[in-house]
Parts: sequence; structure tokens; C-alpha cells
Amino acid sequence: MAKTANNRKVAIVGCGFVGSATAFALMQSELFTEMVLIDVDRDRAEGEALDIAHGMPFAGPMNIYAGDYDDAADAAIIIVTAGANQQPGETRLDLVHKNVRIFKSIIPEIAQRDYQGILLVVSNPVDILTHVALKLSGMPENRVIGSGTVLDTARFKYILGEHLGVDPRNVHARIIGEHGDSEIAAWSTANVSGIPVNDFCELRGHFDHDESMQRIAEDVKNSAYEIIAKKKATYYGIAMSVKRICEAIVRDEKPILPVSNFQRGVHGLHDVVLSMPAVVGKDGIEYQVPTPLSDDELARLHASAETMREVMSGLDL
Ligand code: NAI
Ligand code: LAC
Repeated sequence: MAKTANNRKVAIVGCGFVGSATAFALMQSELFTEMVLIDVDRDRAEGEALDIAHGMPFAGPMNIYAGDYDDAADAAIIIVTAGANQQPGETRLDLVHKNVRIFKSIIPEIAQRDYQGILLVVSNPVDILTHVALKLSGMPENRVIGSGTVLDTARFKYILGEHLGVDPRNVHARIIGEHGDSEIAAWSTANVSGIPVNDFCELRGHFDHDESMQRIAEDVKNSAYEIIAKKKATYYGIAMSVKRICEAIVRDEKPILPVSNFQRGVHGLHDVVLSMPAVVGKDGIEYQVPTPLSDDELARLHASAETMREVMSGLDL
């Protein structure tokens, strides 16, 4: 049984930009004592394992190796970063058919080994592929999650922190809905140490709230396109986002994170996976949090859900 309590083994399927950056971040976190790297490109998995292992004298002991699905079957967490990434100008949803085909070769390998841990999807479009993984694996909803808008929320906090001259860790603001072009900046509950964000903006000399909110939300949404145009892929921000999610699971920390999770009625959302705030612990999704939303945010959230359902309905699973 691979229950996450005291199980310090992780597996990463896909060792490209994201998978290798995630492996590097997790090795430095000392969350795990064993790490399995799986890739169709076996040389890539072996090379990344060797490269990271050589840093071991500078970090805590960890057994890292290229392996296969038998090695992953008893991991506390299996992280899936395998798949095509966006080319410049390509949306995340443009990847869906290529990556569903890849997931059809990966997820059954995990499910047929009666996997009892947490399946953490990162590949894009992450909300759709989390739903695909849920359907293909037949695993319980609470144990199939995606990185969701954890990364987008970090970008939102960072950009707001820069705008306001405060530590981004004191900025409490979320991106919800789709990790993609229909994502929603939840301004109505955004605050800085409990001070409503517009009030704090005025304390810092910013008064054109509509312009700032629109510009900042667009900057967050377009972050990936900007980075991909400059360096071909994004991987450090997502690696650190995945580390945060793994900390919550392995240490049973129970933070509220906007991970991709199957919706069970909060805000009237059903039969869709969206990036929505949930309490995350050793059993994955422990509670879906009904954070307050404005009428406009709620309407946009349901539009985002409809987009996701339309994409899912077009898939042959
Ligand atoms: P990459 O091309 O560098 O790496 C993909 C890896 O997957 C390659 O090593 C490839 O050999 C491997 N792979 C392909 N098919 C496989 C299979 N059937 N089994 C095992 N391994 C397989 O791509 P990159 O940049 O690492 O991106 C990976 C995915 O992560 C993309 O879908 C990308 O859009 C997504 N991503 C998601 C983010 C998020 O916030 N959710 C952020 C950044 C990237
Ligand atoms: C991101 C894309 C690649 O970095 O999903 O947000």
C-alpha cells in the first residue's frame, strides 16, 4: 500500500524541461528519500538522474534513478509532466489531442498496478488532462489532482507585490478557473495582510484601479507566452509550484491551494475539473473551499467550466 503517510518516494513521468526542473527542486527540498524518473527517452531519464545525483553531497541523501512503472507503483506521489509543450503562439488547449494520446499510454500503466498514492498532473492543458487521468485511471477523485493555477496565483502575487512594494507572501490573491486563457483573477477577495487590495493600492499612491487590475490580470495570463517567446519553455516556476503541492501532501500541511480538482457542487459547479481552492493534505483533496466571488467572477467561472466541458466532450476516452 502506497499511503502517503511516512512514504518518502516520488516518481516523475516525463523528464524534460519541467520534469527535470521539478526533480531538481524536489531533491533540494529533502521531502523524499527516493525518486524514480520515467521517460520514453530512457537516456534522458538516466542522464537527469545522474546529473542530479552528483549534487547529493550538497543535499540530503536521496536515491534517484531512472526506472519504470513497477518502480513507481508504491510512490507516495506520481507526478506526470510528460507531453508536448507549447510552441510560440500555441495555446495550452491546442496541446489537448497530442497529450491525451500520450496520457492513454501512461495512465493505464499506473492504474493497472492498483496505485494507492496521489496522482499529480502537470502536463497541459492541465485541468483537462487531470480530468482525463481521473477517467482513465478510475482512481478516487480526491487522489487525482493537477497543478492548476497554483503557478498563476504565484505570478499574480509576485506582480502585485512588485506593484505595491510588498513581499508577495503578504499578498493574498488567487487566479481560479482554467490554467489557461479563460483564467479569472479573483479581485473581489484580494487583500494585502487583510487590507482590501484597492485600499492598499491607494496607500501606495495608485488610484486608477480599473487600469491596474486589467493590466495585471493580463500580465499574469500572458506570462507563459512571454517566457516561451524568450526561452522556449517555462519550468522553474512550475517546479516550485509542484514542490509546494508535494510539501502539502507529504507533510499533511492542509494549505488552501487552487489545484485542478473535480468539482462537486461548490459555486454550482459539477462534472468538471477546474483550478479551484481546496484544502490539500496527505489524502489529496480534503475539502473544496467556497471562497466568495463577485457576480462577474462567478459568471466567468461558469463560462470557463463550459469551455472545459466542451473540450472534454470532444475527446475519445
Ligand atoms: P519537454 O518536451 O521538455 O518534456 C516532455 C518529456 O515528456 C520529454 O522528455 C518526453 O520524452 C517525455 N514523454 C513524452 N511522451 C512520453 C510518454 N508516453 N511517457 C513518458 N515520457 C514521455 O516538455 P516540457 O517543457 O517539460 O513540458 C511538459 C508539459 O508540461 C507540457 O505539456 C507543458 O505544457 C506542461 N507545463 C505545464 C505547466 C503548468 O503550469 N501546468 C507549466 C509548464 C509546462
Ligand atoms: C505556464 C504554461 C506553460 O507556464 O502552462 O503557465
